[in-house]
Amino acid sequence: MTSAEKAPVGPTTTGDAPTDASFSHVFTSALRGHPCHVVGIEAEPQHLPVTNWLREPDDDDEALLALCQGPTIDIGCGPGRLTAALAARGQVALGIDVVHEAVGQTRERGGVALHRDVYDELPGEGRWATALLADGNLGIGGDPVSLLRRAHELVDPRGRVVVEVEASGIPLTTTWASLECNGARSRPFRWSVVGLDDIADLAAQAGLVVGSTHAHGERWYVVLTGPS
Ligand SMILES: C[S@@+](CC[C@H](N)C(=O)[O-])C[C@H]1O[C@@H](n2cnc3c(N)ncnc32)[C@H](O)[C@@H]1O
Repeated sequence: MTSAEKAPVGPTTTGDAPTDASFSHVFTSALRGHPCHVVGIEAEPQHLPVTNWLREPDDDDEALLALCQGPTIDIGCGPGRLTAALAARGQVALGIDVVHEAVGQTRERGGVALHRDVYDELPGEGRWATALLADGNLGIGGDPVSLLRRAHELVDPRGRVVVEVEASGIPLTTTWASLECNGARSRPFRWSVVGLDDIADLAAQAGLVVGSTHAHGERWYVVLTGPS
């Protein structure tokens, strides 16, 4: 581990709060409405935009959903606004998430969801038409190439991987991060931030090519496919 890769240490922004809570415990508090911060990605703690995930889909989300063709697996579905919106359109959609609260909230919204890690065995492996990595979820696990390979594995050979990335000019970074919420800090986890400038190269390492790129508001979506 290099010095740049050290896990965040030091006092929490919430004082003497415990610093070894599980990600699941802390993220559950966030999903239940407690303000939450991410420590370790930027120099200062950043507000985690959970309210964006708890609301109904907006026009930018609709543009993202329009890219999800056919049966779709929503990787890291969170509270399920996208999984549920796809289901409401009559599309087959499965949300997966490592946090029980996220799975429960997705089901309450009318979506189908399973408590699974993306690297676990999943239903329909190799048969999904779309694998969706929304809201920066390409950061999960801090290894975007592995995650893209895994998403590629989940879709049909003619399927697509739809990813939401940061704007051009945002460098590729992988760091340790923690969540702080309701008086607890999570154990550090690996997270990557991927921007538009790096997605083609990362995709190529995973055997994928950029099919199309879409800008909506301040959000960027990229459709990746297998080479034709
Ligand atoms: C940025 S939030 C995504 C919000 C979500 N797209 C939505 O519409 O609300 C990241 C989500 O990924 C989930 N997650 C993190 N690691 C995961 C993993 N290895 N497998 C599946 N889900 C994971 C987290 O629990 C969290 O719900």
